[in-house]
Amino acid sequence: MLKRFSTRKDKYTDDTDVTPIDPENVPNHVAIIMDGNGRWAKQRGLPRIAGHREGMNVVRKIVRQASRLGLHTLTLYAFSTENWKRPKMEVDFLMKLPDRFLQSELPTLKEENVRVQVMGTLNEIPKHTVDAVQKAVEETKENDGMILNFALNYGSRFEMVEAIKSLYEDVDAGNVKVEDIDENSISDYLMTKDLPDPDLLVRTSGEVRLSNFMLWQLAYAELWFTDVLWPDFTEEHFLEAIRVYQRRTRRYGGV
Ligand code: IPE
Ligand code: IPE
Ligand code: MG
Repeated sequence: MLKRFSTRKDKYTDDTDVTPIDPENVPNHVAIIMDGNGRWAKQRGLPRIAGHREGMNVVRKIVRQASRLGLHTLTLYAFSTENWKRPKMEVDFLMKLPDRFLQSELPTLKEENVRVQVMGTLNEIPKHTVDAVQKAVEETKENDGMILNFALNYGSRFEMVEAIKSLYEDVDAGNVKVEDIDENSISDYLMTKDLPDPDLLVRTSGEVRLSNFMLWQLAYAELWFTDVLWPDFTEEHFLEAIRVYQRRTRRYGGV
């Protein structure tokens, strides 16, 4: 049984709903803002990094579940361009996590036919982190199962600035005509150029904001917020998010 965390309609947790998931209507791309690790630790009188460590174990479970549900892409927000503002000790710990996660999980990811990708500015992060991530990307690049896309040192506004610069350079060089620029050409300059837009955004921990995450790509995503802190997030919560998604009517501006 799940606890009822909130009475707010937009952030409810329903322990009574056992509607089966419709395999024909699983979101193609789910993006998750994994939030609340610090508060989870604080509640237990532990250092914030204990929350991040526990959060990593949840990543393991949810990745496996997402792959088995048949998602095309799962994007996980692991570190934002704003997270550098945190104490150095915490940042250092966060930078060790991809390394640790992949060391223990890479064999399973390979077995599950998962393809690891990463979006973000890698040249600002420690070499050991980049090496671990690039190894995983390289060793899973032939897999054609779920794409596990880590947003690492990612910020949407920065992504857009870089996209505009590259587009401008291509216009300048005569490769692109200004009058030919459309929505698809903008998408092609983003870090998600080979990925479908997310259908469902999940954010844990009760915060109801996007925090500079995939602002362009989430234009028509369904949003689902829960008060559950990321280290407490379970497969049941994930199923609940998908159930809610399956009950929504997506209209894209139509009727
Ligand atoms: C999310 O948990 C993890 C990262 C941002 C890396 P937080 O560390 O933001 O946890 P809270 O929001 O302080 O509880
Ligand atoms: C967003 O969470 C970033 C990640 C989950 C990696 P934050 O905790 O950094 O966001 P704010 O500060 O609450 O907006
Ligand atoms: Mg937070």
